[in-house]
Amino acid sequence: MLTIKDINPNLINSQYAVRGKIVSRAQELEAQGRKIIYCNIGNPQALKQKPLTFVRQILCLVEYPPLLEKPETPKLFSKDVIERVKFILKENPSGTGAYTQSAGIPFIRKAVANFIEKRDNIPSDPDKIILTDGASKGVQAALTMLIKSSRDGVMIPIPQYPLYSATITLLGGVQIGYYLDETNHWQLNESILVKSLAKAMEKGINPVAIAVINPGNPTGAVLSYDNIQMIINFAKKHNLTILADEVYQENVYSEELKFYSFAKVMYDMNETQTTLFSFHSVSKGFFGECGHRGGYLEVRNIGTDAFEQLIKLQSISLCANVDGQIVTYAMVDPPKEGDESYDVYVTEKQSILNALKEKAEILGTELNKIKGISVDIPKGAMYAFVKLDLPYEKGIDPNTMSDEELLKYNAQRDFNYCLSLLEETGICVVPGSGFGQLPGTMHFRTTFLPPKEEIERLVVLIRDFHIKYVDRLRSY
Ligand SMILES: Cc1ncc(COP(=O)(O)O)c(C=O)c1O
Repeated sequence: MLTIKDINPNLINSQYAVRGKIVSRAQELEAQGRKIIYCNIGNPQALKQKPLTFVRQILCLVEYPPLLEKPETPKLFSKDVIERVKFILKENPSGTGAYTQSAGIPFIRKAVANFIEKRDNIPSDPDKIILTDGASKGVQAALTMLIKSSRDGVMIPIPQYPLYSATITLLGGVQIGYYLDETNHWQLNESILVKSLAKAMEKGINPVAIAVINPGNPTGAVLSYDNIQMIINFAKKHNLTILADEVYQENVYSEELKFYSFAKVMYDMNETQTTLFSFHSVSKGFFGECGHRGGYLEVRNIGTDAFEQLIKLQSISLCANVDGQIVTYAMVDPPKEGDESYDVYVTEKQSILNALKEKAEILGTELNKIKGISVDIPKGAMYAFVKLDLPYEKGIDPNTMSDEELLKYNAQRDFNYCLSLLEETGICVVPGSGFGQLPGTMHFRTTFLPPKEEIERLVVLIRDFHIKYVDRLRSY
């Protein structure tokens, strides 16, 4: 019988906090009849976000083409949707039940390239686009290509989305953490990058890539154009491949901020030597189609021989699922003005994005009113990384601890906080230690996806819990 001692230690060592122990406990409590507010994961439709009509109408007809022949269909489905579905079926006549090319259905890759061209006003090559089962598979493919030995290191943000740390561990590589600057809205800081790279190299690590998440998970930060330029220059100088995780590109809530893609900034800089992988997904933005597992990666500045290997890697799992490819098509080529489905599409999109913006504001503003809690009000993505300033128990002096001891100690403390929060209020958030944090700091990550009324209730529950929790800590 297979037991844990027989399995790959890299799997045992990899951690994925957003579905970790706190979530297991939440599920146990739910099974006992407790109401749980799941704020642990960016899964919009699990938190009552409705799917977009346009997307679901397309999927419905593509999955069951005989509906196109029914007399009721023109009354139930928009005219442009019916036309679109006929086009999809013409371009992909084998339907959703057949494998596609390894890189994905060609007309969808072309549509992705057009989307990038329109978004950024830059050229994009459909032959350098691969449709993936969500962005996760794209990131995993890139890391699989890049990690060649146990000395190869990938620079990842701290805090980061644990897909990165877990995959690097799984592949037997090394994480080179770089801290994001909480005092500067979680932007990247060049001197921090330089220091973390130098420290890794001193240890004999060979840095091969840098991963950047923009807009940020778990930080909710949106990187400025200058910051991206700095990162590209840094990567170029140190011969690092860039992994640009841009799955939250539609989730920018501040009028003063704008999403800039790495591809656009790199094009403007005329940079042709640094390899860039960019990732996008149907799971986030206003689509929230997490379950359909759709997305794409685009690669720039890659050798033909290396790209062939990437295609081979895709071939090993045949192709991305076809429904996910179709949803990716719907994302990159939405209804146009004048199409029958256009108005509904725009209304649904705006209502989702406006609600997210409003909820980010409520969450951030109300949490900041609580003594001992502070948060950079999220300007993007779907999360707030909330800082906790908790009193130390009697007899504990953090100044006498090493960084390692502090990290370990605070990991236990933020875990305890999140577990108590769950037990006492039913709110399920993720301890900051699951994403990484500066020694001596403590956080939790929460989404602001639940409906507005729940967010309003949630901040009151957190406030009341926090006051009691701090009193308890003081009394120990
Ligand atoms: C930064 C980031 N990248 C990638 C993913 C994975 O997305 P997908 O569902 O497309 O695999 C997530 C999911 O939360 C994420 O937050």
